[in-house]
Amino acid sequence: MTSKTVTELLSQDATLQDVTVKGWVRTFRANRFIALNDGSTINNIQCVVDFENLDEALLKRITTGAAIHVTGELVKSQGKGQSVEIIVKTLEVLGDSDPETYPIQPKKHSFEFLRENAHLRTRTNTFSAVMRLRSSLSFAVHKYFNENGFNYMHTPIITGSDAEGAGEMFKVTNLDSKNPPLNEDGSVNYKEDFFGKETNLTVSGQLEAETYAMSLGKVYTFGPTFRAENSNTSRHLAEFWMIEPEVAFMDLAGNMDLAEAFMKSVLSYVLENNREDLEFLEKRLLDEEKSKPQAQRSEMSLIEKIKFVVDNNFKRVSYTEAIDILKNCKPNKKKKFNYIIEEWGADLQSEHERFLVEKHFKCPVILFDYPANIKAFYMRLNEDGKTVRAMDILFPGIGEMVGGSQREERLDVLKEKMKALDIDEKELWWYLDLRKYGTAVHSGFGLGFERLVMFATGMGNIRDVIPYPRTPQNAEF
Ligand code: 4AD
Ligand code: MG
Repeated sequence: MTSKTVTELLSQDATLQDVTVKGWVRTFRANRFIALNDGSTINNIQCVVDFENLDEALLKRITTGAAIHVTGELVKSQGKGQSVEIIVKTLEVLGDSDPETYPIQPKKHSFEFLRENAHLRTRTNTFSAVMRLRSSLSFAVHKYFNENGFNYMHTPIITGSDAEGAGEMFKVTNLDSKNPPLNEDGSVNYKEDFFGKETNLTVSGQLEAETYAMSLGKVYTFGPTFRAENSNTSRHLAEFWMIEPEVAFMDLAGNMDLAEAFMKSVLSYVLENNREDLEFLEKRLLDEEKSKPQAQRSEMSLIEKIKFVVDNNFKRVSYTEAIDILKNCKPNKKKKFNYIIEEWGADLQSEHERFLVEKHFKCPVILFDYPANIKAFYMRLNEDGKTVRAMDILFPGIGEMVGGSQREERLDVLKEKMKALDIDEKELWWYLDLRKYGTAVHSGFGLGFERLVMFATGMGNIRDVIPYPRTPQNAEF
């Protein structure tokens, strides 16, 4: 008899059949009812043991957290809360648990505590639901691009460039840190380092993705990216996963259409395929909100929020329009913002972004045409000479979800920009080559995958949507 998963068993008609299942004990009630979970679904299967048939010593080993192997008959459940249950014939404890020290007790644990026990936290309903959704969203990402003619490209993790020009990179070196080879002026001689040059972990696969877009047409990357920014917020990680499509012959309007269609597609996928997990997380959020004052509770439930994004157009607003709105809004005039918006050119802080999406427009917003000097070097300069064809997509509850742009395809303009920002042409000779040989309009964007998972699960802290978060002062596991 081959083992079945809990999800397979729960979807079967109870027709008195012999079944076998393996999983971890969630609870054991009244020496009779085991709630068994194997991670295949949010639901447990109830296994009913007749203790007359089991010896006392075995009974004692059925504790929360133990791994067990059960065989028995699948029958219609007599009790409430489940349609079928297993009447146990044989029970084997595969791995004992220690009820005294097992951290995941059947009670409410704080997310902080569970973060410290991240290796076991997926044995809780909340984290198993989140991680199944994360997996499902990843699949939906590949599915969307595959069905729309994109090639999946693996961009390098180790690179010599700083795509975003923000200098937030983790160095990669195998030089002896106590005694590195030095140049005559006392600086470290990276020619003697492993790669013969200074290298770092990538902050974005974009620049390499552009090279493939300019040959394969439509490509995307989906991989880990790294940022050594010391921001200890609920939306930043030092290691996160980014999805970056890049498309030849596509302008900024096409880029917005792509981003919107893509996000709607992956969110629809989980609405259809992860219903039980979403319903569980929705209920969790409702419970959590009960403890908040009425004014802070959200108007929509989790599933309503996701549906709202799927069914409604994102609002497209220029940076200039956004500044006008912000300059004249109440929190700005009453100096409630930490950063008061005084004039055109100001960089938007997350408090401003959240005001726009949560209070003003109440829907996802695509902001475009930002001032050139607050955006990266590669963005295409507009005819006005002061704005670039950039776009950020802002989401309620999250803030910036996507950053992208039409790329500067004119060699002379790009060179000038690099010169002004002191970016060495020799370092990016291959990037400039794209503009020398068959250059063309092209665009792309980057979507922070964990922020998407936050939105789809309603989790409030980015550390709770990635298995093992890397943040300042923390790289456990
Ligand atoms: O806006 P960013 O910095 O854009 C780029 O890196 C471009 N090269 C992308 C492109 O055009 N191909 O980052 C893109 C997105 C952000 O909108 C945000 O969702 C996410 O990546 N992100 C982070 N997510 C978690 N932790 C961090 N520290 C993040 N930094 C950016
Ligand atoms: Mg950005």
